[in-house]
Amino acid sequence: MARLTPDNRPHALLFDSGVGGLSVSAEVRKRMPDLAQSYLADDAFRPYGEKSEKQLRARLPGLLAPVVDMLRPDVVVIACNTASTTALPSIRAVLDVPVVGVVPAIKPAAKLSRTKTIAVLGTPGTVRRAYVDELIDRFADGCLVRLAGSVALVEEAEAKLSGRAVDLDRLRAEIAPIFDGRDGADVDAVVLACTHFPLLVDELRSVTRQSVAWIDSGEAIARRVESLLPDEGRGEPPARATAFSIGGTADAARREAFQLSGFEAFVTL
Ligand code: DGL
Repeated sequence: MARLTPDNRPHALLFDSGVGGLSVSAEVRKRMPDLAQSYLADDAFRPYGEKSEKQLRARLPGLLAPVVDMLRPDVVVIACNTASTTALPSIRAVLDVPVVGVVPAIKPAAKLSRTKTIAVLGTPGTVRRAYVDELIDRFADGCLVRLAGSVALVEEAEAKLSGRAVDLDRLRAEIAPIFDGRDGADVDAVVLACTHFPLLVDELRSVTRQSVAWIDSGEAIARRVESLLPDEGRGEPPARATAFSIGGTADAARREAFQLSGFEAFVTL
């Protein structure tokens, strides 16, 4: 298939079920403003947090392979915790470029917490994964870790970037279990283990009474991406960035949200 980015500039393809990867894209752009980015949103199959591991493993490799073949990025970023904690090996097996996944920021949260009581807020899928249990065993030993899964927050982040008002009461109700009881009152760090959630961090702050550090993996991913890229072509202005959506709605507000994030073109596949 023809390459759509014919220059020699380094190029990253970011992938998520929807707009969540934009929180990662912003961190990547902050660190590497000259890096060309493309974006793929699997709007047709969202929310990933409600899908089984089997469904995601069956879908993602075959969905990404032709797009990577078309765009020939230097690196693919699976900017989605649910996909990363489930299907990363199966995705890597079919792609011939480096693939960076998202690792929930449990290690920095455990380090930062003074009370040694933290929460992991992800999709229902992510907080069930054995991979997250392993991260807790390795990096949060001695911490009390509360797990909370939410699909509603994914929907609210999508709504926000489609220009609709965020339902703050819904947000408050979703995160209430994290802060329940005596242990809840001790929670001083919350891992945002879904890339949609940093898009709502201001709203989450506004509905939380106690002082909490909200920690995501965006910056760590940007550092990892930078370490994998060649130096040549850097420093030039970025190429025109395109966001592709599988079966997504192309409403004006959503297009504008992608545009504001640097993706001038929005193409529905
Ligand atoms: N943004 C994705 C994540 O990081 C998932 C959202 C969804 O459930 O589709 O987990």
